[in-house]
Amino acid sequence: MSLVKNLLATTGAFLCALSLSTSAKEIEIKFSHVVAENTPKGQMAMKFKSLVEERLAGKVVVKVFPNSQLFGDNKVLEAMQLGDVQLAAPSLSKFKKYTKKLQIFDLPFIFNDMAAVDKFQQGKEGQRLLNSMSRKGLQGLGYLHNGMKQLSSSSPMRLPSDLSGKKFRIMSSEVLAAQFHAVNAVPVKKPFSEVFTLLQTKAVDGQENTWSNIYSKKFFEVQGHITESNHGVLDYLVVTSKSFWQSIPTDIRKEVKAALDEAILFGNSIAAQKAKEDKQRIIDSKRSSITELSQTERQQWVAAMKPVWQRFEKQIGKKIIDAAVAAN
Ligand code: SIN
Repeated sequence: MSLVKNLLATTGAFLCALSLSTSAKEIEIKFSHVVAENTPKGQMAMKFKSLVEERLAGKVVVKVFPNSQLFGDNKVLEAMQLGDVQLAAPSLSKFKKYTKKLQIFDLPFIFNDMAAVDKFQQGKEGQRLLNSMSRKGLQGLGYLHNGMKQLSSSSPMRLPSDLSGKKFRIMSSEVLAAQFHAVNAVPVKKPFSEVFTLLQTKAVDGQENTWSNIYSKKFFEVQGHITESNHGVLDYLVVTSKSFWQSIPTDIRKEVKAALDEAILFGNSIAAQKAKEDKQRIIDSKRSSITELSQTERQQWVAAMKPVWQRFEKQIGKKIIDAAVAAN
């Protein structure tokens, strides 16, 4: 009898220890990104972390790595496929190795403003694109805004011909390369972490980015001229690996997704605010002069760059392009 009692006691202790160690095993989400913390993406990441800490303490832990500390934007998706990072939000221009369809977001002058971008993203075609890298093991979880892109350079740019022969840093996108070729400029693909030095050392003449990135990474301090071109959008896809996502127990996954959706909404409101505030901060700094385009001048940029659409129509798909245009 005492042998049975002992056995039961030992088994009980073992099971208890086992369940404790199971419940103590937190799910770790490493969130790697390349921008500063005072940006829409930086703020969204911190909000996500704090919501998860508040709601899923002991079950899920989020570690945020900003400023390319963990992975630069040319490595993060490979690292995700290998399981070294669980969450990232690369610019939509950085997925060309995984899908050609997201190139829609790079077509110059396709969206009139952020309201159109948002309408397209939340519509049928935009939502379908979240699954466009499924076969590569990547799952889009939502879109996050940064804003419309502006052009900065060491010399003034009022007409497309002002870019002729000049070197512009671009993200790793064929559409963006074609956009600069269309105005006889020279595109140079480089990671975000290198942009400031490239501009400072004059290895390139200019670059395209949002007000918040131009401000938070101090590009305006080394670029004398910014043209408010609003010629394209720079938004993000919050992405994870399918295998990691599926491995999270359903009830927890639901809560993680809810926290993410809430953080994205928060990030989007910051994006709208930062676009205005950071532009004003750059104006106030007097380090860079801002050129506004007249309607006639803008039409010249559209005429020069829009032929790029035709070249990528087959890769992206006409239905997607039509849906984007219809969102305006
Ligand atoms: C980012 O906003 O994540 C980086 C954009 C860029 O590479 O220019």
